Amino acid sequence: MNETWTTVDQYFDAKTGSADDALDNALRTAAEADMPAINVAPNQGKLLHLLAKGIGAKRILEIGTLAGYSTIWLARALPEGGSLITLEFEPLHAEVATANLEYAELADVVQVRQGAAIAHLPDLAAEGFVFDFVFIDADKRSVPEYFDWAIKLTRPGGMIIVDNVVRGGAILDEATDDQDLQGIRRLFDSLANDGRVSVTAVQTVGGKGYDGFALAIKTAGQ
Ligand SMILES: C[S@@+](CC[C@H](N)C(=O)[O-])C[C@H]1O[C@@H](n2cnc3c(N)ncnc32)[C@H](O)[C@@H]1O
Repeated sequence: MNETWTTVDQYFDAKTGSADDALDNALRTAAEADMPAINVAPNQGKLLHLLAKGIGAKRILEIGTLAGYSTIWLARALPEGGSLITLEFEPLHAEVATANLEYAELADVVQVRQGAAIAHLPDLAAEGFVFDFVFIDADKRSVPEYFDWAIKLTRPGGMIIVDNVVRGGAILDEATDDQDLQGIRRLFDSLANDGRVSVTAVQTVGGKGYDGFALAIKTAGQ
């Protein structure tokens, strides 16, 4: 990992208030349960929080919970009466996240639904959910399908974020046989002609290495 990127992240985190007991608890319990440390970085969590807050998101959907670290950041952006649904495949992850959300005093606004996200998404549509903000951060091979569902489930003007779209620059590898990379590449191939969203992608460096995210707004009239 690039030491300067990591140290600059630590400097920003210290100056901008990107840690507290509940967030530290989520990271600690994940490590204790031998879960992979693939949560967003603190400053990325805060970015998600600020974006959701900035658009006044009242209904948030997260695909990929892990231990609930990004979930805590996002749920804290909700106004009174807001709610968040987070989808997680691994029973252990869902269990640890549920405990961490209780610890963070967010259990009343967050619902953790365990199981394959692709199976839950049609249920959310059938239940009539409309989201203001969707954060996609689960298995990357299914990203195009998640993105398509996110558009269907989001209000016009709603925001969709897809994490880990750069992967150290591997996104450029046209011949890759890595299914996760193929998933991200399929997303960008379809985005070129997708009039349902206005989208950009941003590269990032930091304590989590060299990666990036895509940010989309669902266009009006869709
Ligand atoms: C990168 S981690 C999520 C990190 C979390 N958003 C954070 O920043 O704290 C990805 C999560 O997606 C989950 N996942 C993988 N495949 C999935 C699927 N098909 N459906 C739902 N969740 C899945 C993994 O078990 C893992 O917990």
